Amino acid sequence: MCPGVMSTVNSPSKPANTAPVLQRERPEDAAAVDGLIDHAFGPGRHVKAAERLREHNSPFRDLSFVAWIGGEAVGCVRLWPIHIGDTPAVLLGPFAVEDAWRSRGLGSDLIRKACDAAQAAGHAIVLLVGDDPFFTKLGFETVSPGRVTLPGPVNPRRLLWRALKPGVLEGVEGLVHAG
Ligand SMILES: CC(C)(COP(=O)(O)OP(=O)(O)OC[C@H]1O[C@@H](n2cnc3c(N)ncnc32)[C@H](O)[C@@H]1OP(=O)(O)O)[C@@H](O)C(=O)NCCC(=O)NCCS
Repeated sequence: MCPGVMSTVNSPSKPANTAPVLQRERPEDAAAVDGLIDHAFGPGRHVKAAERLREHNSPFRDLSFVAWIGGEAVGCVRLWPIHIGDTPAVLLGPFAVEDAWRSRGLGSDLIRKACDAAQAAGHAIVLLVGDDPFFTKLGFETVSPGRVTLPGPVNPRRLLWRALKPGVLEGVEGLVHAG
């Protein structure tokens, strides 16, 4: 974890200092998180292939995290139930940190927190669409082109996954669907 980032799980109190606190997303956080995501990505996010996997789906609240500074949400990551072919997995995203809080390790902390929570809950595979220079540092690798298909076009270099248990990527392939 980066220096200065505190980590708690649904502590009722807000931080008294300026270190972001990572908390599981609660239903009442949805508007703040949606605002943060809209600000980071703009309306274009709704046309992305990964969005097709979220639009009739619900995030795992206990695996999705929000970084709070005082009463302001400054970072977030959501995980969603999906299947890759017949294999259960989780989809990571959206993932964003407010401009003023970037390059302090907060984004990496959010990814580690969500992946650790998914692993502890027994999930085996995390899939995402993102930039490999950022995510390979966090244990993700590029999916072999053509092996996994999303319901829409995706640059194959941006389709990444991470095994949370040894050997679980073996033989996994196919169309990704929600749920
Ligand atoms: C991506 C994002 C969440 C990273 O948050 P963060 O808190 O700055 O992350 P960290 O502090 O852990 O890491 C920052 C480092 O990652 C690098 N980085 C950030 N985004 C990157 C990207 N898309 N590709 C490669 N490197 C990236 C930064 O340059 C920085 O490098 P430095 O430490 O050498 O300066 C943030 O930049 C963001 O919200 N971007 C807009 C939304 C977005 O692109 N989300 C990801 C979609 S998959």
